[in-house]
Amino acid sequence: MAVLTIKVVPEKILRTKAKKVNIIDRSIQKLLDDMVETMDWANGVGLAAPQVGVPLKAIVLGMPGEKPLYIINPEIVKKGEEITVEEGCLSIPGFRGEIKRCVSVTVKGLDYHGKPLRLKATELFAQALQHEIDHVNGVLYIDHLESPDKLFKITSRDDEN
Ligand code: NI
Repeated sequence: MAVLTIKVVPEKILRTKAKKVNIIDRSIQKLLDDMVETMDWANGVGLAAPQVGVPLKAIVLGMPGEKPLYIINPEIVKKGEEITVEEGCLSIPGFRGEIKRCVSVTVKGLDYHGKPLRLKATELFAQALQHEIDHVNGVLYIDHLESPDKLFKITSRDDEN
């Protein structure tokens, strides 16, 4: 495994819609393993492949106290009501913002071995999933800001995605 370089704004790949993964082979699994190592190294709770320079629909999540979760070709199929949350991103260091996210989501995709996966998440887990799925669609949390004053500078923080 290897720690990969995390791309930061304004790198173009962060604004590129990632491609669907058609074949799940060892190279994709190695990418997922490296993404988890990179996320852990950065003390993040989630990471999407475009953040490490790979334009593929693949995300990993590392909620505190949980085993890492790998989702290939993730897609939101159901959403709950919107709430206001605070969010940051490993690709936008030094800032956090206040945005709206759905309090719950149902997501489908493929697991590490290419088997279909479907899960329902709430609160922080749901927020992280929406954040990572945005990343594979070239969307950043700052796109959801209602106004520029909802973005603020921070010194450092551990649980970014
Ligand atoms: Ni992010």
